[in-house]
Amino acid sequence: MKILVVGGGGREHAIIRALKKNPACTDIWCAPGNGGIGYDAHCQAIAATDVAGMVAFAKEQAFDYVVVAQDDPLALGMVDELAKVGIPAFGPDKAAARIEASKVFAKNLMKKYGIPTAGYETFDDAGAALAYIRAQGRYPTVIKADGLALGKGVLICQNEAEAADALKEIMLDKKFGASGSRVVVEEFLTGPEVSVLAFCDGETVKPMVSSMDHKRALDGDRGLNTGGMGTVAPNPYYTPAVAERCRKEIFLPTVAAMRAEGCPFKGCLYFGLMLTPDGPKVIEYNCRFGDPETQVVLPLLESDLLTVMQATTNGTLAETEVRFSTGAAACVILASGGYPLSYGKGKPISGLVEGQLPGAADVTVYHAGTAVRDGQLVTAGGRVLGVTATAPTLPEALKNAYAACDTVYFDAMHRRSDIGARALAAGKE
Ligand code: AMP
Ligand code: GLY
Repeated sequence: MKILVVGGGGREHAIIRALKKNPACTDIWCAPGNGGIGYDAHCQAIAATDVAGMVAFAKEQAFDYVVVAQDDPLALGMVDELAKVGIPAFGPDKAAARIEASKVFAKNLMKKYGIPTAGYETFDDAGAALAYIRAQGRYPTVIKADGLALGKGVLICQNEAEAADALKEIMLDKKFGASGSRVVVEEFLTGPEVSVLAFCDGETVKPMVSSMDHKRALDGDRGLNTGGMGTVAPNPYYTPAVAERCRKEIFLPTVAAMRAEGCPFKGCLYFGLMLTPDGPKVIEYNCRFGDPETQVVLPLLESDLLTVMQATTNGTLAETEVRFSTGAAACVILASGGYPLSYGKGKPISGLVEGQLPGAADVTVYHAGTAVRDGQLVTAGGRVLGVTATAPTLPEALKNAYAACDTVYFDAMHRRSDIGARALAAGKE
């Protein structure tokens, strides 16, 4: 099998490492990939958003299967374009990718089909949005840009002045580009957050092991929102009773709603959930694997990833086993100091041999932002590495992940020291 993975971060590296467990996956490529992924796959420098370039390359190389892992090529219709040239691909088509690409689409879908989510209104006019917020007079209030905004288009406002600033940034200054022509203003919810990734074939949905992201840059959930500073799986707040409720009230209705709207969802549907005092509610949908959730979820997958992915494409997921180990995994992100704002690049990374930690069993280093310059591995992004450990229990996985992190070094390295702390405290609150 000749396979192409589209994207170039830690998530794509985790997908490649999982695919490689299948001996049939003999020839794996990644575009654009990155320096560390280059130890596990052939990297090709094509931007993930270059749909025409990617499709031409896929055709020329006669790939048997393409995994579109990143959100923007999905939203741009890369899966549709690959289908036109006869190449099957993992991921939703353009119409189904709207579940992430348009928050207005997602919120209206939930309202129409009675799927629990935060109460909201949508606006295409900043003045009208502010008048609504003022009339409501309830703070904090949440303002979201409609479109993709690199995970940064959500602003939580504590008062009217902050709301006015947020609306100005999104709608008038267009800080997130065209994604800010419309906004969703929604109710502020509270409770533990859970990420659930689920395989879908348009009809059947099979959830993966749950996980917990840590979005803020600094310990104690302080600092700016990032793409994610670390993850643990499973998420202890996601008890079997909560899982059953989510299946009935959220997962099955969402998949049925997408079918009813004429855009059945195939691929990985990411449910960002909040366990509120009124029950589980959807905070966001993503049309793809999460990053860094994938780096703790796929290491626990015991079934063959390629078989499951192909089942989502072929509509045979109901007959396909999706089994996870009963163990735990923890991923700690090693970031460049200054991330998510400005940071340096090109800093030599020490402690790794061919991108991995020698001699550390059950530890894998996923490369998010690395490059190889003159044979030396160097930093090349905000999130640099994701160090994942798997173990029978979460405390062991966390201990091993942090011990492994201690043996890796680059100048101005930043990491959170409390990944998993809230998960360990669950049940003791
Ligand atoms: P998102 O980019 O949609 O994942 O949102 C980023 C983060 O903002 C989420 O992980 C939540 O922590 C927070 N958030 C989003 N929507 C709400 C809401 N309605 N109430 C409270 N927090 C929210
Ligand atoms: N870790 C959050 C996301 O992938 O959107």
